[in-house]
Amino acid sequence: MITKVIAHRGSKGTHPENTLAAFKEAVRVKSDGIELDVHFTKDRELVVIHDETLDRTTNGTGNVGEQTLEEIKQYDAGSWFSPVYQQEKIPTLKEVLSLLAGYEGLLNIEIKTDKIAYAGIEEALIGLIEHMQPTCHIVYSSFNFSSLKKIKAFNPKAEIACLFKMNNKQTKLFSRTTQVAFWHPSIQWLKTKKWLLLFPKRRHLRVWTVNKEKEMLFCYKKKIAAIITDYPEQALAVRKTYQK
Ligand code: G3P
Ligand code: MG
Repeated sequence: MITKVIAHRGSKGTHPENTLAAFKEAVRVKSDGIELDVHFTKDRELVVIHDETLDRTTNGTGNVGEQTLEEIKQYDAGSWFSPVYQQEKIPTLKEVLSLLAGYEGLLNIEIKTDKIAYAGIEEALIGLIEHMQPTCHIVYSSFNFSSLKKIKAFNPKAEIACLFKMNNKQTKLFSRTTQVAFWHPSIQWLKTKKWLLLFPKRRHLRVWTVNKEKEMLFCYKKKIAAIITDYPEQALAVRKTYQK
């Protein structure tokens, strides 16, 4: 089994995160998958950005959920990274899906409802995916397990994955009550070695954020299902070397 390489927020280490430029790069380097984060605007549009606020990755300020898509589209989402990317805007999920038309890798949509529970975001997400019928394999993940439950209620066939930093009571309880396909733990948790007891089937783990060569090699050696990395091109090159 080959460990898959998933590009975190596109190719976050080399391009402005969660922008079309970052997703194009992830496709260019032939990532096995792409991870992105979704929030909901005031007028109920699914937009791709990591934070609840605009401040860190755009020239806007304030909460994403308190502005309309038209307002959000005015902001520059690339200059903070490099002036080369000043044309980049916050993409809608629909724009990303259009960009990825024909892509047959995995698309991990992280629902960012752990700090703000956007009412109706899960239904909108399922609706958009059903409408767009993407060629990529969709995986929904979240730190907020009630969002994952809602996804399953809207589409029982949807693949859901639980995100966690450290395994806790909540993750254990959830696994008993809901059909979870994959677990997305942090690399810090993987280092605790408890995973060996809890997850003998490593094919159920996709680990983030694996950026150091040593950590990449560790995951490849342990046959972890996938790594989510800011440096997909490097991770793929390291994987090639390891397999020789
Ligand atoms: O999905 C893995 C990872 O993206 C989770 O954390 O904060 O980078 O969205 P974060
Ligand atoms: Mg994420």
